[in-house]
Amino acid sequence: MLRVSRLYPKSRVGRALATTKRYQSSVCGAYFPDEPSRPELITERIPGPSGIKLNEDLGKVFDNRASNFVTDYFNSIGNYISDADGNKLLDVYCQISSIALGYNNPALIEMAKSDSMINALVNRPALACFPSIDYGKILNEGILAAAPPGMDKVWTALSGSCANETAYKAAFMYQEAKRRGSIDFTSEELTSVMENKAPGASEKVILSFDKGFHGRLFGSLSTTRSKAIHKLDIPAFPWPKAPFPQLKYPLDEFVNENHSEEERCLAILEDIITKKHPPHNIAAIVVEPVQSEGGDVHATPFFFQGLRDLTKKHEILMIVDEVQTGIGATGKFWAHEHWNLSEPPDMVSFSKKFQAAGFYFTDPELQPNKPFRQFNTWCGDPSKALIAKSIYQEISKNNLVQKTAQVGDYLYKSLSSVFSKYPDRIKNLRGENMGTFIAWDCVSPEERNKLLLACRTKGVNIGGCGEVTVRLRPTLVFENKHADVLANILEDSLKDLYK
Ligand SMILES: Cc1ncc(COP(=O)(O)O)c(C=O)c1O
Repeated sequence: MLRVSRLYPKSRVGRALATTKRYQSSVCGAYFPDEPSRPELITERIPGPSGIKLNEDLGKVFDNRASNFVTDYFNSIGNYISDADGNKLLDVYCQISSIALGYNNPALIEMAKSDSMINALVNRPALACFPSIDYGKILNEGILAAAPPGMDKVWTALSGSCANETAYKAAFMYQEAKRRGSIDFTSEELTSVMENKAPGASEKVILSFDKGFHGRLFGSLSTTRSKAIHKLDIPAFPWPKAPFPQLKYPLDEFVNENHSEEERCLAILEDIITKKHPPHNIAAIVVEPVQSEGGDVHATPFFFQGLRDLTKKHEILMIVDEVQTGIGATGKFWAHEHWNLSEPPDMVSFSKKFQAAGFYFTDPELQPNKPFRQFNTWCGDPSKALIAKSIYQEISKNNLVQKTAQVGDYLYKSLSSVFSKYPDRIKNLRGENMGTFIAWDCVSPEERNKLLLACRTKGVNIGGCGEVTVRLRPTLVFENKHADVLANILEDSLKDLYK
């Protein structure tokens, strides 16, 4: 552990990691015993002067107009993110939902210092052509050990968008291979595809849902339907979309209405499949367990089971996009485990909290009939697969998914109590029994943004999504004590805004 503390000897992290004993005790009690017990604020505003200056300099060479504040990752620890001015904020946004185990997690730092990691970093392989001697073992002990129930194969990719796009390509090649049967590619296919035309270029489509988000590369962007600004000016495939249920809250007061809404959406979907498209034209349907960027829109297991039934009935592949919901935050390792599907999805994509990206599948036919059809230079990254392995092992060793489910229940109750005092300002609290994957709505985008800013000024880094939604995306080492800090600061912020 001394070696680890040498990494950042003068920082809080270095001091925290210097004591092996303290870390060992952390896994059964507080995970990061040396993180601050509450936000530590140095400047009146965040960003402060140092952050503003650094950002100005960076802006001359890099488009940083989306920057919230410049971060000091050396001095961030556990659930607390440090900015360039030394402010320490409780982080419930976590790099857009992608920090699983807290900043400077000792287990990940150990992995980062290992020979395997050094080797993976300095000799990045073109994995499909020259796979490393240990890639199979790394996958089996990490990404594949974490595979969703019933799935046993993976294709590794480079980002969430890339994970989805490679899944879409697998879907098209699978469906066209089924159409073609045992016949090889025709000469017409081979020539027309070079003109970007059918029959070589498939005319099949991927269906996605209104307000869904699946990424910003060309193919994934065509399935993204959350905000126009992400799509403007970019050529798009003419692919269909279906409505996603709009549930009313609290759920127990609108059981019948919500059920009818889900039936309505399933009926429209079946209409699109059967009346608006020729048979077998829809290669796959992609769906998020909770539409995250679109505003944390939930549906019930009834809807997702209905979707699975329709995809089976019409021989359409079902892709579940778990880029944001995967890796424990909903109180299950994979959010779709909440649904108890009669049959697993055909593909499940992942990225974010796993750091590595890709998609899981089971059917060997989802691997195209020839090499190089699903291919790029790197086809993933062993260094990220090693980090994913450490994340998986740390989650398993410390029961972090179960703990997240418990902390989520505690947090949900605390928030219900705080928000009950502001029924006209805060609406649609959602994510009960979904771990810490909790969200609520404000009454306008302006009020939502004011709340986000008020929280930041009081020491909580928190994110929005959709038009009026606040979403929580804390780490899996977020405990009841952090939930208390969050609830208190939210309450103070609401008091200030609506006194
Ligand atoms: C559900 C979902 N899918 C795909 C993506 C795209 O991932 P990336 O930004 O890594 O390409 C995101 C990103 O927010 C996402 O939330």
